[in-house]
Amino acid sequence: MLSQAAMQAEKAVGHGDNATTAQDVTNPGNDPSTADNSETMKALAWFGKNDVRIIDAPKPKVIEPRDVIVKVTGSTVCGSDLHLLHGSVVELQKGDILGHEFCGVVDNVGSDVKRFKKGQRVVASFQIACGDCYYCKQKLSSQCEKTNANTIENAMYGGRTAGMFGYSHFTGGFAGGQSEYTRVPYGDVNLLPLPDDVPDEEGLFLSDVLATSWHAVVDTGVKKGDVVAIWGAGPIGQMAAEFSLVNGASKVIMIDQNWRLDFVKKTYPNIETVDFSKLGKGETVTSVLKKMCNDRGPDVSIEAAAGEYAKGWAHYFEVMLGLETDTSEIVNEMITSTRNFGRCGITGVYVGFTNHFNIGSLMERGIRLIGNGQAPVHLYWESLLKMIQEKQIHPMNMVSHRVRLEDLDKVYYKFENKEDGMQKVFAETKWSAPACKGSPPLTRY
Ligand SMILES: NC(=O)c1ccc[n+]([C@@H]2O[C@H](COP(=O)([O-])OP(=O)(O)OC[C@H]3O[C@@H](n4cnc5c(N)ncnc54)[C@H](O)[C@@H]3O)[C@@H](O)[C@H]2O)c1
Ligand SMILES: [Zn+2]
Ligand SMILES: [Zn+2]
Repeated sequence: MLSQAAMQAEKAVGHGDNATTAQDVTNPGNDPSTADNSETMKALAWFGKNDVRIIDAPKPKVIEPRDVIVKVTGSTVCGSDLHLLHGSVVELQKGDILGHEFCGVVDNVGSDVKRFKKGQRVVASFQIACGDCYYCKQKLSSQCEKTNANTIENAMYGGRTAGMFGYSHFTGGFAGGQSEYTRVPYGDVNLLPLPDDVPDEEGLFLSDVLATSWHAVVDTGVKKGDVVAIWGAGPIGQMAAEFSLVNGASKVIMIDQNWRLDFVKKTYPNIETVDFSKLGKGETVTSVLKKMCNDRGPDVSIEAAAGEYAKGWAHYFEVMLGLETDTSEIVNEMITSTRNFGRCGITGVYVGFTNHFNIGSLMERGIRLIGNGQAPVHLYWESLLKMIQEKQIHPMNMVSHRVRLEDLDKVYYKFENKEDGMQKVFAETKWSAPACKGSPPLTRY
């Protein structure tokens, strides 16, 4: 409902005039001028709250001279896709193709594409950047000023993010990469070549999770010797834990409430865990963390969960009744847990407004609260690629399942409910190479 209302409002008010690439191109089947009807492809599309389906759609075609059409060989589902599934991120339309992490092979290029030729292996960044605006010049690509003309986002946030693949009309309205082909605007800017020694099963994650987790760690300021607490042991939290250790953290503590804590601990035995569903009488996450950290608390806290996940009834109802869009429970827990003058970073998605925020603790104890933003992938992806090549970081550590694109509709619900030990999937398509060494075997749903 809210999603549709926001969409109607956007239509009534109209887009801004800042974008230099077409907006609202979320499915080539909806607009014949964007379709190459010579071929049909499979894709995953949104049809309403808790309703995603596999559809057949025409292949996208080059519509702007700097477009690259990518034949997708690897895709996945992100915790951010769950916010679309749940309808907490607004302005989706029926039939929008989702997915913002994908890699593949160049299939076709527009007349102004210089860096890429048909046949090259590439990975796409989740954000769509123009490459030469104020933010792009600094590689802060997630805040590009030229790829998203959404008026509601601008009014609500006092500024816009970049356009994003498969992430609603709120961020421009672009068809995503949970599909067999995807159109990449400004292809020279938004694709990174994948070298032969990096298989899709590793390179894919340069799209988002690696850059996001790395950014959470360096932007929040994890330094040598720091004790780091991370809320959420999903893929983002897991890689933030690995990267905190790479950055010299002396101790990493993960907070969650399910088997994922054990999954992460199996890979990094030095990590400590707090299961908040199993606290003792009178204990809170904050009291437990104080006890684990010299009665002061961690130096750095990282939010890798999300604002839509209320813990108590009060926030559950306030969110349900539209009195707030996000709970403040996790952020308050981070603030009260962190040592005085420590740092807190928010990487989990928050959509709008929150109630009962503990501003007193923040102010009096000098807590630095940092919105990490949508992570600027372009700032990091070349160095992260090198770290994969040098085996300093290990993206396959989080990949629990290999699945088929055709099964992604079912995989969304498995991932949402944390069933079957699903941490992160690699979704193959009919174009994918055989699984690389170390890949989990294919699971069919
Ligand atoms: N800022 C960015 O650029 C960016 C990029 C990618 C993902 N994200 C966001 O990061 C978050 C994590 O992504 P993911 O793929 O790991 O998601 P995920 O949904 O797989 O994992 C989130 C984890 O948080 C846990 N959780 C829920 N409530 C909690 C609480 N109160 N305390 C502790 N843990 C709690 C869940 O049990 C789950 O394991 C999502 O909100 C996602 O949208 C942000
Ligand atoms: Zn994501
Ligand atoms: Zn830009």
